[in-house]
Amino acid sequence: MSWLITGGAGYIGAHVVAAMCDAGEQVVVLDDLSTGDRARIPGVPFVDGSVLDQALVERALREHDVTGVVHIAAKKSVDESVREPLFYYEQNVEGLRRLLAAGAATGVGSFVFSSSAAVYGAPDVDLVRESTECRPVNPYGQTKLIGEHMLADVARATGLRYAALRYFNVAGAGRPELADRGEANLVPMVFRRIDQRQAPMIFGDDFPTPDGTCIRDFVHVADIASAHVAAARSLDEGTVSALTANVGRGEGVSVREMIDEIREVTGTTVDSWAEPAVVARRAGDPPRVVASADAIREALGWTAQFGLRDMVTSAWEGWSARTAGAA
Ligand SMILES: NC(=O)c1ccc[n+]([C@@H]2O[C@H](COP(=O)([O-])OP(=O)(O)OC[C@H]3O[C@@H](n4cnc5c(N)ncnc54)[C@H](O)[C@@H]3O)[C@@H](O)[C@H]2O)c1
Repeated sequence: MSWLITGGAGYIGAHVVAAMCDAGEQVVVLDDLSTGDRARIPGVPFVDGSVLDQALVERALREHDVTGVVHIAAKKSVDESVREPLFYYEQNVEGLRRLLAAGAATGVGSFVFSSSAAVYGAPDVDLVRESTECRPVNPYGQTKLIGEHMLADVARATGLRYAALRYFNVAGAGRPELADRGEANLVPMVFRRIDQRQAPMIFGDDFPTPDGTCIRDFVHVADIASAHVAAARSLDEGTVSALTANVGRGEGVSVREMIDEIREVTGTTVDSWAEPAVVARRAGDPPRVVASADAIREALGWTAQFGLRDMVTSAWEGWSARTAGAA
């Protein structure tokens, strides 16, 4: 009995692999290495390929006696999804369809799915609950919402047990070498500017929030990983059979607060060049997106353990190790 972890060579996936292994689970990773790196998961059984390759996936499921799947592999750039919607529907929607078909053919019983707060779009509420209406504002969010619906339909038809985890803003690193290498998110974006001794940018400070900047719910990637372990366990034990849950801290942090925290961690609070520069808003940025984390606490007994300082410090260690290695 083992778990197939798709996308296990990626940023979040590698943390999930480490947490599942630490919890004593047998795992096998399937990843096409389009953004992943096998060096993140040394010694872990690995299948090099795409979830779109249904025959390969079926073979891997049978060969490794897989009874549960954690499906993390996906494309995740909002901008790219706007430019290349069909690519996103192929990778995220058709990829999931084929993976579910392979799982149905081989008797997979449990399925954990990487969803996203992007399913909500721009919610006009203080705390986003799972009952908040889902109105994605880009193709990326659409593909995640369609994925949730597909999963629920298949579960109803086949008895598959599932947990769809809607991650909020993931940050931090469990170990420096597992850090996020993308630069689309706020924390690495600010690191890049600081590295280049340039002012971090704030996209709009006239939002209806206390300091005028956008508010998000940042959650440590190690907490995201432990949520997967809790979900996998509960599905295996049968205490959970159909769960859709936010994974966040339930605490809002503004962009300005995050930049202040980063300046403290990077020792740049007294540097005038590190004063944030306010530029125009980006299209479609909602003012506030903060999770209610009640559902996942009630269903899985999970709550986030790490705070903002841990996220920023560990992410900075990862960033520094990588830039030192590249120098
Ligand atoms: N990073 C975030 O803040 C965030 C927030 C919400 C949801 N998510 C979701 O979490 C998941 C992982 O995100 P990440 O930040 O670790 O990204 P990532 O790009 O680091 O990881 C994605 C992994 O999937 C692999 N992959 C992509 N397409 C594949 C395919 N067709 N077949 C096999 N492997 C494939 C990539 O090589 C990579 O290893 C994604 O599903 C993403 O939508 C991420």
